[in-house]
Amino acid sequence: MFDFHKNQTPRHRASVGPKLFGLENASVKYGTTYAMKGVDFSVNRGEIVFVTGVSGAGKTTLLKTLGGLIEPDQGRVHRPSLREAFTVPIFQDLKLFSNQTCEQNLVSAYDSHVYKSRKEFDQDLKELSRILGVSSRLELKIKDANGGLKQKVAFMRALLTRPDVILADEPTAALDFENARKMFDILNLYNVKQGLTVVWATHSKELAKKFTGRLVHMDKGKLIYSGHACFI
Ligand SMILES: Nc1ncnc2c1ncn2[C@@H]1O[C@H](COP(=O)(O)OP(=O)(O)OP(=O)(O)O)[C@@H](O)[C@H]1O
Ligand SMILES: [Mg+2]
Repeated sequence: MFDFHKNQTPRHRASVGPKLFGLENASVKYGTTYAMKGVDFSVNRGEIVFVTGVSGAGKTTLLKTLGGLIEPDQGRVHRPSLREAFTVPIFQDLKLFSNQTCEQNLVSAYDSHVYKSRKEFDQDLKELSRILGVSSRLELKIKDANGGLKQKVAFMRALLTRPDVILADEPTAALDFENARKMFDILNLYNVKQGLTVVWATHSKELAKKFTGRLVHMDKGKLIYSGHACFI
């Protein structure tokens, strides 16, 4: 099922479907501070969207609101039902089992209703491990893994659940550009093959500009740009 050609970023994209998430004039307040203010934002099925902005701009707040971890104090939010779209978050707390090995963490993603066979799951796990260069470290316990390996395991585990949507908050913060590129290429491939929808928050506008996708930029809680990365 999973075929990935080395160093080849797919040029095409899944066709964009109906709206999955929508925020209308949504605000989130902590005390008197607005973490997010009057944000209008939507994500359609099959889109890859980068959310950029400096530290404190409101990226995590936006993603948490989309994912249902936060309800807005003002405005409206629309989220897909579980039947419409299975959404998997990758937030800074990676929620890995620290006493278990990388592989055990990955195997926890296996669902017999999602895969035709365990063999198919194992093949995907093996292929993702190979591409991300973690095959020789799968026996390492999470508590002994470095930040980059942990991020890769959390990323792989999310993908191995075969989600419809990934909400990823700085998924490559501990990784260099080469590894960030590999992750992006994998997401792109799942986007093309399975229509995966991705919202990816990063403080680095430069990183987002190197990849293809819609870019939205936040500043002081407000969404101030939405469009192609090359115009910002
Ligand atoms: N639980 C909280 N309590 C109080 N203030 C908060 C809380 N969470 C976020 N904030 C504030 O809301 C604003 C937006 O925070 P948010 O974490 O969404 O920004 P961010 O763009 O994700 O930043 P970073 O790049 O550092 O992750 C900041 O001013 C932050 O201090
Ligand atoms: Mg954040």
